[in-house]
Parts: sequence; C-alpha cells; structure tokens
Amino acid sequence: MPKKGLLITFEGIDGSGKTTQASRLAAFLGQDRATLTKEPGGTPVGKTLRSMLLDPDLSIDPKAELLLFLADRAQHVQTLIRPHLEAGSIVIVDRFIDATVAYQGFGLGHPLELIASIHEKILEGMIPDRTFLFDIDPQKARERIISRGDKKTSVENRSEEFFQRVRNGYLLTAKEQPGRFRVIDALLPQDEIARIILADLESLDMSLMGNRPVRESSSC
Ligand code: TMP
Repeated sequence: MPKKGLLITFEGIDGSGKTTQASRLAAFLGQDRATLTKEPGGTPVGKTLRSMLLDPDLSIDPKAELLLFLADRAQHVQTLIRPHLEAGSIVIVDRFIDATVAYQGFGLGHPLELIASIHEKILEGMIPDRTFLFDIDPQKARERIISRGDKKTSVENRSEEFFQRVRNGYLLTAKEQPGRFRVIDALLPQDEIARIILADLESLDMSLMGNRPVRESSSC
C-alpha cells in the first residue's frame, strides 16, 4: 500500500537536544495526527535490543552492534513506522537511518555500502520526507550530558574523536542530500529551534499545521 503520511526524523550526536524538540513537535501536532517514536527501542523487541546495545557493562563486538541496530530498525519499520504511515500519520522518529551511517559507518568504520544495502532491504524505497540534523560541537555536547548527571551509556562513553567523526559523517550526509536535510544550530534557544522546525514543516506541507498559525509555537 502506498505511503499516505509523513516521515520526519531527528538526528544529531548525543547531547544535541533533538529529543526535546521531537517531543515538542509531537505535542504540538497532537496524538490524533502524529506518532512519536525512537530508535533504538521503538517496539517491544526494540526495547530489549536497546537495553543490550546501551548497557555500559556489556562488551558488544562492533559487527554485532551494527547488526543489532539494523535488527531494531527492521522490526520498527515493519511493525510500527510503515503501518502508521499507511494510516496517514505524521511519524516523528528520534534517530533513524542516518544515525547508523554516522555512528557505525563514520564512527566505527563499517563500510557505507554495506549499511546502504541492508537499508535498501529494510526500507523498500521508504525514506524520510524531512530530517532535522542538530549540529553541535562534541565538547559542548559532552558538557550537556555530564550536567544531566545520568550514568553514561556504552555509546556515550566513547571518545571525543569518535563523536567528531560522527558529527562530520552527519554533516557530510546532509550536504549530499540537501533536499531532505535541514541542519539546525543546536546552541540556539529552544523556542527559536521550535519555530524554525514548524516554519520549515509548514513550507514542506501546507496542510500540516492545519489552521494553527506557526506563531503558536510557544506551546510547541
Ligand atoms: P538516544 O539516546 O538518542 O535514544 O540514542 C541511543 C544511542 O544509540 C545514541 O548514543 C546513538 C546510538 N545509535 C547508534 O549508534 N546507531 C544507531 O543506528 C542508532 C539508531 C542509535
């Protein structure tokens, strides 16, 4: 069945603030129109995979890590994302395909062609309508993570050089696909970022905001 809804993804290195903005957008659009989900962990199977993947006490081989993130995505696309898109929902995903390219491709050095070919199999032509990339210097992002005070995950524990590669990978991907990506300065005030996102989505799909003016974004 052809896709009827919209697929919007949020990307960026850890500590970039994308999760806050994905939640704000979902709250603004409301549950009737939007579905907010995330990777890894958007499905019951994915929740189990997430707890393994992010456990700082487990040592997962890099090849196994790549395949587990992709397994999470396959389950997510088949059982949640595709059905909701076909039902006409605006599906907001906190991390998607570009995270694997940036983290496991550019960060860990897995071949990009391998990731692309598995994605082809999983996605069957489905790609995000819009991707917001939250760009931030890895050192500033690390300060934000430390100030949150939570125990760091296995991925967050990686070096600043790793996150620099991930950031560069994201920026390169965005440069190659300017039609899909919007790069956002993650250090801008939260309200301004929310306004940028709403204005952009309105230009993408005029019906998206319904009768609600973009100015209403203080509640976003
Ligand atoms: P989150 O904290 O934004 O939910 O993301 C969980 C972590 O998983 C984050 O450190 C990035 C990492 N990740 C990958 O390394 N590859 C992927 O494909 C995805 C989706 C996430």
